[in-house]
Amino acid sequence: MIRPRLILLVFASAIGLLAAANGTWLKEVPAREHARPNPLRGQPDAVAAGGRLYAEHCAKCHGKNAQGLGKAPSLRSLRVQQQATEGDLHWLLVNGNLRRGMPSWSKLPDPERWQIISYLKSLGP
Ligand code: HEC
Repeated sequence: MIRPRLILLVFASAIGLLAAANGTWLKEVPAREHARPNPLRGQPDAVAAGGRLYAEHCAKCHGKNAQGLGKAPSLRSLRVQQQATEGDLHWLLVNGNLRRGMPSWSKLPDPERWQIISYLKSLGP
């Protein structure tokens, strides 16, 4: 017996999985970028400045508290907080993930990108 509603459900969840952020970008980061250290690490000023930049540029998609909104995932996830290095995040901010709706921030001055990364990493999982 064919159960159309069940088939529809399976189909819809498969599409949902495809659409959800899946971290494939991490595999594209070159080794040198992956290992790149944050020059502002350990500077409390960088976290505060990064928080202001986050509110200005990122909150509209990722949410005021980085909890995620719609297609833009939470930035408090294990992927962002533990799996990704600061170098990985830097690479993503420079390049974006345009096909999946994440803009590039290559126009920001480099210290501002590192400030945003300092802020993100200060959030914890
Ligand atoms: C126009 C909406 C939009 C804006 C603005 C935006 N993002 Fe995103 N971002 C996205 C989307 C959508 C994704 C998911 C991409 C995917 O499917 O992999 C994403 C993914 C990410 C990821 C990877 C998360 C993961 O789990 O793989 C990080 C980190 C990130 N964004 C940080 C930022 C930061 C920092 C800013 C501000 C400088 C920002 N984003 C601004 C839409 C946005």
